[in-house]
Amino acid sequence: MLSIKVEKTKTPKEKPQDETALGFGKIFTDHMFIMEYDTGKGWHDPRIVPFQNLSLSPACSTFHYGQTMFEGMKAYRSEDNKIYLFRPDMNAKRANNSNRRLCIPEIPEEDFVQAVKALVDIDRDWVPHSAGTSLYIRPFVIANDAYLGVKPADSYLFIVILSPSGAYYESGLNPVGIWIEDEYVRAVRGGMGYTKTGGNYAASLIAQVKAHDDGYEQVLWLDGVERKYIEEVGAMNIFFKIDGKIVTPMLNGSILPGITRDSVIQLCKHWGLPVEERRISVDELLQAQHDGTLEEVFGTGTAAVISPVGKLRYKDEVMTIGDGSIGEVSQKIYDTATGIQWGKLPDPFHWRVEV
Ligand code: PLP
Ligand code: COI
Repeated sequence: MLSIKVEKTKTPKEKPQDETALGFGKIFTDHMFIMEYDTGKGWHDPRIVPFQNLSLSPACSTFHYGQTMFEGMKAYRSEDNKIYLFRPDMNAKRANNSNRRLCIPEIPEEDFVQAVKALVDIDRDWVPHSAGTSLYIRPFVIANDAYLGVKPADSYLFIVILSPSGAYYESGLNPVGIWIEDEYVRAVRGGMGYTKTGGNYAASLIAQVKAHDDGYEQVLWLDGVERKYIEEVGAMNIFFKIDGKIVTPMLNGSILPGITRDSVIQLCKHWGLPVEERRISVDELLQAQHDGTLEEVFGTGTAAVISPVGKLRYKDEVMTIGDGSIGEVSQKIYDTATGIQWGKLPDPFHWRVEV
């Protein structure tokens, strides 16, 4: 149990008036959580303070070598004004999976969840009210040694910030166009693909720029060795409905084990839909499209929620999925997952955690 000191802001900011214009990740709340780590001392001085800039040495190891970890989660406001988190224990576990790979000291799971809950509670009036909006939560760790040698740092900061947000994609629930990248790769097995760390996202930018220039919203990555098997999207896991079956790439070490992915798999199984976690090649997709059995495609992620894919481009081929609008199963998954998150539906899996 952390003993969290609280210093409240004396100058609260004005909350956004127009919740339809929130966008994603642009506005921050009044407070942040911060805790430090030093070798020999462990994690110490947990506190909630007014949201503020950091003062770091230009030699701060994170700037140079990217020893960082981040998480992404949300707080949701129900119609009766309760505030819920969604499976926060899973974020705490995944944070430590990333930490271990990056030689960052682990954060006890209960401390991670306590920090998030305490901060959300203090800024609970910032959880937006309108349909489809939520408070995006960004916990992260940065290495903080003022030292230019390459080694695991001796000091770290664990910080949590909050951002009231609307849809991640400007298109909302309208299908997105996705570019299957055949030149660059994001991650390889044995690398850091299964972690949430800055470098994975830095590696992805060049293809994202290419895709955007061509009018596509996101990149779908192929495996880093053969560039043949489907991995995941820049900020989402990917699902296909092929001939009545729900198919998604298995967790192989190079893709992020998404919490939305896990929840969607559990929901589909609960409904009795056949679910396959396995390797899927681009050739199989092209063949399914050709045979008329590629019925639906959607991405899953905390920021992106359930995001229907209307168009997939691979080299010179452009596949239009179904009639280009959201599929029946994608819609049902969206309605159920968001219904549970926003407290509108029963929670048979005990995923909601009230703040
Ligand atoms: N894959 C990547 C690369 C991501 O950044 C995300 C978002 O966090 C996901 C998948 C989806 O994960 P989750 O459902 O836990 O948000
Ligand atoms: C999330 O869904 O939480 C993400 O982190 C995606 C992205 C903004 C990197």
